[in-house]
Order: sequence, then C-alpha cells, then structure tokens
Amino acid sequence: MKLIAGNWKMFKGPEATRAFCEAFEAPDGAEAVLCPPFVSLPAAVERGHTIFAQNVHWADEGAFTGEVSAPMLLELGVRGAIVGHSERRQYFGETDETVARRVAAALGHGLRVIACVGETLEERESGQMDLVLRLQVEAIADAAGTQEGLVIAYEPVWAIGTGQMATPDQAREAHTFIKNLLDVPVLYGGSAKPENAEELLSQESVDGALVGGASLDVESFTALCRIAASL
Ligand code: PGA
Repeated sequence: MKLIAGNWKMFKGPEATRAFCEAFEAPDGAEAVLCPPFVSLPAAVERGHTIFAQNVHWADEGAFTGEVSAPMLLELGVRGAIVGHSERRQYFGETDETVARRVAAALGHGLRVIACVGETLEERESGQMDLVLRLQVEAIADAAGTQEGLVIAYEPVWAIGTGQMATPDQAREAHTFIKNLLDVPVLYGGSAKPENAEELLSQESVDGALVGGASLDVESFTALCRIAASL
C-alpha cells in the first residue's frame, strides 16, 4: 500500500485543521497521514486520522526551549514525525547528527518516522548527489539500527515548492540508490500534485509521496490519495 503524507509546514491553525479533517476521508487502498503544525495536532488527532508531527526532539524532557518530545506527542495520540526536512536543515541548523539523534529517539519510543534526504541543485550539478545521499541515509540508518517504523522521503531540494518535480527516471534512480543502502519504504517529495502523481507513483521504487503545497487543499490531497489507492 502506498503512503501519502501531507506536510502542512507552517500552515493551518487549529480551526483550519478542524475544517480540513472534517472534510477529509482517507480512501481505502492507500495510507494517508497528515502532518500539521504542533499547535494544530490536538484538533487533527480528534478526528481519527493518522497524524504525524513535523519534528521531534531526542530528549524526553529538559531545558530545550521550542522543542517537543516523543512522549509528549504520544500522549496526544500522534503516531509519528517527520525528521530532517530540508527546510529544517537549511533554516534551522539541522545536521545529519541531530537528525540521527531525533530518529533514534522517536523510533525508540515507538513513533514512526519519515526521515528526509535530498540533494541541492548545486550538489546534483557538481556530481555530489550520490555522496550527499549516502551520508544522509547512512546517518539515519545507523541511528535506526534494527528498529521498525522508518520511512525515508527522497526530496530533491530543487524540487520543493518550485513546481519542478523530478522526472520519473530521476526519482527511480535516487530511490534505487537509497534502497540499496537501506531496505525501507522510500517516498518521493517535491512538487507532487494530482496532475503528475500517477506517472511517479506507479513506479515500483516509489512507495508513496510526501506532499507540501498540494496537501493543503482537501480536494487535491484526496485526489492524490485516490491515485495512490488505484495503483
Ligand atoms: P512541495 O513540498 O510538495 O510543496 O514541493 C514538499 C515538501 O517539502 O515536503
């Protein structure tokens, strides 16, 4: 079954979250996950959908202003977390090391994890893509060990929010590379939308999608889930 995860980023407070979750019905045949901002998690969980956070700290508690722990998320009924999104790596100093610590702690507590990897355009064009992906994936793999619940999201940074999705061949190449390093499901992320999803999702190495912009609208997110369910 393919997994479609909606990464809402810093969009939708509790009221907009409630409205979305009331209107959304996950189709049979695909797994749908919603990832609202922290303040909207309770409103999302109430409606019975599968909800992940967008980040999680490695400590259970402590003096870490602005962070949220795995036990806190579990108490709320949250089932997993995105870790290491490129926006966190780019704007908030997230490194392979901090990503690894978050992955290890979250899985250790029984949360599922969508760990993000992906190269920048500069890295791709200078032939660094394999090296970058290898380092990112190995850090995550070492942290996960034999624990269950890990999914990788391959999100080429140049495709995020740009409307320029990777071609099916580019996605297949990267997904195959990642799967040779680590045997877990691999989602594609970066400008996925209903218009381009079928060609991408119908590839065997693409186990689903992590969707930003197109997940904010209940109709387009539902359409994506239906496409995934039909494959
Ligand atoms: P996008 O974002 O679908 O808006 O490109 C994807 C992501 O950042 O997870």
